[in-house]
Amino acid sequence: RRLLNKQLAGDQVLVVSNREPYIHVKADQGTVVHRPASGLVTAVEPVMRACSGTWIAHGSGSADRETVDRDDRVGVPPQKPEYNLRRIWLTAEEEQGYYYGFANEGFWPLCHNAHVRPIFRSSDWQQYRKINQRFADAVVKEARTDDPVVLVQDYHFALLPKMIRQRLPKATIITFWHIPWPNPESFGICPWREELLQGMLGSTILGFHTPFHCKNFLETVDRYLETRIEHESSTIFHGGQLTMVENYPISIQWPPEWQGTLPPVEQTRAEILAELGLPDDHLLGIGVDRMDYTKGILERFSAVERMLEQHPELVGRFSFIQIAAPSRSVLEEYHAFEQRVHRLTERINQRFPGAVILKAEHHEPDQVNRYYRASDVCMVTSLHDGMNLVAKEFVAARDDERGVLVLSQFTGAANELHEALVVNPYHVEQTAEALYQGLTMPEYEQRERMRSMRALVQDFNVYRWAGRMLLDAARVRQREKLAARIG
Ligand code: F6P
Repeated sequence: RRLLNKQLAGDQVLVVSNREPYIHVKADQGTVVHRPASGLVTAVEPVMRACSGTWIAHGSGSADRETVDRDDRVGVPPQKPEYNLRRIWLTAEEEQGYYYGFANEGFWPLCHNAHVRPIFRSSDWQQYRKINQRFADAVVKEARTDDPVVLVQDYHFALLPKMIRQRLPKATIITFWHIPWPNPESFGICPWREELLQGMLGSTILGFHTPFHCKNFLETVDRYLETRIEHESSTIFHGGQLTMVENYPISIQWPPEWQGTLPPVEQTRAEILAELGLPDDHLLGIGVDRMDYTKGILERFSAVERMLEQHPELVGRFSFIQIAAPSRSVLEEYHAFEQRVHRLTERINQRFPGAVILKAEHHEPDQVNRYYRASDVCMVTSLHDGMNLVAKEFVAARDDERGVLVLSQFTGAANELHEALVVNPYHVEQTAEALYQGLTMPEYEQRERMRSMRALVQDFNVYRWAGRMLLDAARVRQREKLAARIG
């Protein structure tokens, strides 16, 4: 935190993301504020509280919509405002084209290897461009100086860096890509590939979670644009702009917000088992995701089923709790996926009653945390994932140094959390075996693994993530100022 403040001394910070950190919803008792299920928000929110400034996001709640045309700025967090949230309201048509259409039916499956075919419609693309322009206008309007630090988040805004650069040439634009970047062949099917890449290259710094995603991006640019790439320094020179491409593995806040305020793990565990009507010695697994086809929820349930087939002594002694926050459910692919998850849950529970407890609704972070603390094993089995912060949240939640993490090798987190039981989620037997190994792991081994993962998350926490990017940005700013003086 201190490092962040030092890096930013006097600079204005603007964050742009699609998802807002606090959703204001109209309710009988007035306005209620929810925290969305989003890795992006988990990571960026504590950073924003540390640096203040303004967060510009798509307004998704039902309260305050009437302020659409007015200066729509609210202080957040609600109880103790530390920064401003400026909401951009979209019409149903705009949201359909920009968010559901191009971002989530096109870009999302394009970047994730989950074997879902991307859909590209020109009408969605037009909306995507238009909404990127709308956010660029908001950035320019919010900028108090000609050189603010703008933190652009994710695949909803690939065109935004260039749009901002055209109007605020001296801005320091740090774009962070929260999802994987595919190889050039995969990306090449996108009809607007050149324009998207040019848009991203308006950034001063372009961050990905892993060196592998950086490499894919450099190769993609090399394949489709006329640029000068310096592989040693990982920089791209294009249209008079220098962009540094670097990996910054995202993380979570440390110490966690709740540190020291929660009841002991044993108490939480007893409470949760009582709520579920289960005996004291019942074993629990936990999965926490958005209801998304990239998360490997079906593969995970199949592994639970296989584990019970192979270890019948655990039938009736183990349950797997799946929290699945509803997500993008107006899209056919998501709707069909949700149905498949429900059907598989029913089928498994017919064979092994109570084996899967599906909670397909939104849970606030403190509720999720109780389940992390009460469980023996946490399963993260994404088919492809930029980082996956559930893995790190689980580790942070276990201050008792107990619990085992089963982790997909296709997450960015697997590059860092080596003491997890790393699996290929497509390999049902292997995942089932890892689950069993987790449930039967001796305490000393759990402790050793958990201790080492906690040390890593503590050290490489989200302030370090943001601090490294801002430090790199500060160096570039300094270099540019010197060059301008000499020039
Ligand atoms: O990290 C990927 C991401 O799409 C974020 O951009 C987003 O906040 C999160 O997943 C949740 O998705 P959505 O905002 O579409 O609910």
